Amino acid sequence: MDFGADPYPEYAWLRAEEPVRQVLEGRGLYGLLVTRYEDVRKLLSDPRMSKDPRNAPLDWQEAGKGRPLEDRTGLGTHLLTTDPPEHTRLRRLVSTAFTARRVEGLRVQVQDITDGLLDAIVPRGRAELVTEFAFPLAITVICELLGVPKADQDVFRQWTKDFRRWTNTDSAQADRGDARPVGLRDLLEYLTRLVEKRRREPADGLVDALIAARDADDRLNEAELLSMLSLLLVGGFETTVNLIGNGTLALLRHPDQLARLRERPDLVDSALEEMLRYDGSFETSTWRFPLEPVEIAGTRVEKGHPVLLSLASANRDGAKFSAPDQFDVTRADNAHVAFGRGAHFCLGAPLARLEGRIAFDGLLRRLPGLALSVPPERLRWQRSLTIRGLEALPVTFDA
Ligand code: HEM
Repeated sequence: MDFGADPYPEYAWLRAEEPVRQVLEGRGLYGLLVTRYEDVRKLLSDPRMSKDPRNAPLDWQEAGKGRPLEDRTGLGTHLLTTDPPEHTRLRRLVSTAFTARRVEGLRVQVQDITDGLLDAIVPRGRAELVTEFAFPLAITVICELLGVPKADQDVFRQWTKDFRRWTNTDSAQADRGDARPVGLRDLLEYLTRLVEKRRREPADGLVDALIAARDADDRLNEAELLSMLSLLLVGGFETTVNLIGNGTLALLRHPDQLARLRERPDLVDSALEEMLRYDGSFETSTWRFPLEPVEIAGTRVEKGHPVLLSLASANRDGAKFSAPDQFDVTRADNAHVAFGRGAHFCLGAPLARLEGRIAFDGLLRRLPGLALSVPPERLRWQRSLTIRGLEALPVTFDA
């Protein structure tokens, strides 16, 4: 299946005709794609659906080797590869560190970073919003969240570019066997050294809070700590980049909605939820593996057979949402599943919402006359079944 720029008509067909369908991810991973809202919603929090890739068939595990969300060796033992009670323990520990207060404490920094990036863009009248706005915003916020010193942030950003390329490439790179780019190795070495340093000289970032995190006598060991930090990178920045990219594109393609939001900036919260529903950044969930045979939309799925839940499709299901293909910044009762659901519900949702609110507020206020500078059909999308995002978003505006 080639979804490309607009996968939604294909999803509508699948929901009607083949709500459980075998798919192949370019890099040799295969599984069943589930597309109806009700099935997706239930399966997201079904305890029979394991997140531990050791419950997958052996050939599948072989294909997933070395990848952070599909391989439990190395730094792969984290929230998205564990089940209760292991998951419950890890999530409790990280939640004591990644608190609502910590997110709220980032508000001023997120605003400053956004303002700084826009200051550089505003006088030019044109910009490429993925690399010049969304990416540096998201990665700098992650640096601030973790507590990466300012002096290291440039090189950190450089490494994450490699990392980004690596996690987004479905086939070409992985099939050639060059699974880990140099930047990734450097990044993991850096995180290891950062943890060592902060054990000696604690500061007040999330790294320090994770080192200190305790639940009674329990704490994270070294491998768990590093796995958690790399998961926060995998899960935390690309998704935010794409929230800003996809959300801006949705506004630009619906000028009436853009105008409405400009007139009523107080709609930014509901607009953000609508962006997540209409074209969210995780097209599918991560993989799940049934611990016993399960029935999904009338199809029997064998124990261990990999399953992917299409969040993008669920969020456009007419059985759940009225006028599902309409982008409506005032939509109420928006029970989308863009952040997942249940035990694995996105840990970073409050941070993503904070960043989204500040980013869109800034873009709308400071870039009047915002418009695409290429026809929408010329925009290039990342080649990935899981991640939905633009390679680039060139725009013009009144300088
Ligand atoms: C718009 C932005 C984001 C979207 C759409 C998003 C989406 C998701 C989804 C769908 C899941 C569940 C995956 C599944 O069940 O298979 C998830 C989990 C997770 N997300 Fe996010 N995310 C976003 C931003 C962030 C940020 C900013 C962070 C951290 C800084 C983050 C950290 C995580 C973590 C750690 C998990 C695993 C939770 C668990 O398994 O207990 N996410 N996210």
